[in-house]
Amino acid sequence: MPRVLVTRPIPEAGLALLFPHVTVEMSPGPLQPGEIARRGEGCAGILCQLTDKIGADVLDLPGLRVVATMSVGTDHIDLAAARKRFVTVTNTPGCLTEATAELAFALILATARRLGEAERFLRAGRFKGWDPMLLQGQTIVGKRLGILGAGRIGQEVARMAKGFRMEVVYHSRLAEPEFEKECGARAVSKDELAATSDVVSIHTPLTAETKHLVDAAFLARMKPSAILVNTSRGPVVDEGALVDALRQNRIFAAGLDVFEGEPAVHPGLLELENAILLPHIASATVDTRNRMAVMAAENLLAVLGGRAAPNCVA
Ligand code: GLV
Repeated sequence: MPRVLVTRPIPEAGLALLFPHVTVEMSPGPLQPGEIARRGEGCAGILCQLTDKIGADVLDLPGLRVVATMSVGTDHIDLAAARKRFVTVTNTPGCLTEATAELAFALILATARRLGEAERFLRAGRFKGWDPMLLQGQTIVGKRLGILGAGRIGQEVARMAKGFRMEVVYHSRLAEPEFEKECGARAVSKDELAATSDVVSIHTPLTAETKHLVDAAFLARMKPSAILVNTSRGPVVDEGALVDALRQNRIFAAGLDVFEGEPAVHPGLLELENAILLPHIASATVDTRNRMAVMAAENLLAVLGGRAAPNCVA
């Protein structure tokens, strides 16, 4: 049976699919850079996570045929190098759309209503009774939502926003006429989106073009009452510029599930009351993670079985 490296423990549902067909070598915990290439020697497939850097050192492994990542994002994999070496790369799109959109919406509401700050206030014993001036936030119903990157997840956030009677504008690489019809969404320039949105929610993949898409200039255009939410990839936002904007209350708040130097978090963010910070958990629901593991395993087995991989990105 072909050997497969699983770079860290994954839900049983995915492993159960692999066991009858391949010899699984599973690392008990995350592998350090360089270790994947060492542990992957003699493997025909690698089932990896978004925390695993897959570069030429790994892709050069003799006999490697497939890298199946248990994520929708593929920015941790050198796709050009994979193509050059005829190593197939697959991902897990679709199955995490709802979970990720739910978390983006949770961050929208949590930042608007200052939930992190409010809970810290109560736990610190500072709640002395109802106060008409206490912890006033922003109303979300009827406000304008700006979607940066209207792919599957961005569109799902917009669908959820309809329940809050929000007006939706978007800025994306491609025009999305179906989405415009369904959600009454309007395509706008990046500058118009920044300047007029009450909530900006980021859903672009990380590429050379989207790195620091939200920079100091973008943040300077935003309304002082506006909220920024990022559930895509940290480097899409210039974190230093965001810290400055939040510190000076030039925007109302930010909700972040991802960070530029993940798992490191900009120390400035940690001090701010108007930032809600989460440890990259957008797809972390039990059923979603099970589906992701199954999908990654199915992709991997398809390639090793000589079939077309359902979710091939390279
Ligand atoms: C999560 O960030 C993913 O890319 O699946």
